[in-house]
Amino acid sequence: MQLRDNGLGFSLITIALHWLVAALLFSMIGLSIAMSLEVSEVQRMDLERLQNLLGTVLFLVSLYRFWARISSYHPLPVGTPNPIEVIVSRSVAVALALAMVLLPIAVWLSRSAAGQVIALPGGFAIPALMDPNAQVQRVVDVLFNIGATAFLAGLALHMFGACKNHFVLKNNALKRMLGKHVEL
Ligand code: HEM
Repeated sequence: MQLRDNGLGFSLITIALHWLVAALLFSMIGLSIAMSLEVSEVQRMDLERLQNLLGTVLFLVSLYRFWARISSYHPLPVGTPNPIEVIVSRSVAVALALAMVLLPIAVWLSRSAAGQVIALPGGFAIPALMDPNAQVQRVVDVLFNIGATAFLAGLALHMFGACKNHFVLKNNALKRMLGKHVEL
């Protein structure tokens, strides 16, 4: 089994982790929406604990994934895109992988600075990174909002690129990310 990406294709690990990260991220967004609806305090705390757990898994997986992305070859593009498109799409992909490491750290720091416990299911909790500090919390929250906005814009561009390749250019870029073997 191919463990690392090479010039000819993504490894199965990359493909599995790519879709795991996407599933975790969309589940966390879904949980945020559920929490904003009218739910009881007990249900809200259950949802928050679950979201914290998914965020922890997302962070740990993303640490490996970012290292794997920057330390292995990005496979050659499918089709014949112009070099600018290749540079932009690869930079966005790396930035998305980095954001999945930095944004959870910002949330961890912000909650610690606010003196909030990051509770997990089963009565566990994530240790605080620092003592409560309102000033640090304000700065981290501003940075988080800027980072999260840039991340969502990058993700929209990334998904637009995937749809364009699949529906307009009708090439195998998305199918390759779904595990199809593509001859280059
Ligand atoms: C429904 C959502 C998504 C779709 C349709 C999608 C589609 C794709 C496709 C087609 C590729 C292959 C690009 C190529 O051939 O070079 C790719 C790569 C990549 N995508 Fe996504 N993606 C999605 C969500 C995400 C999310 C949520 C992230 C990160 C937060 C992400 C990060 C990456 C990265 C880092 C790569 C490079 C390969 C790797 O290291 O995993 N994608 N994506």
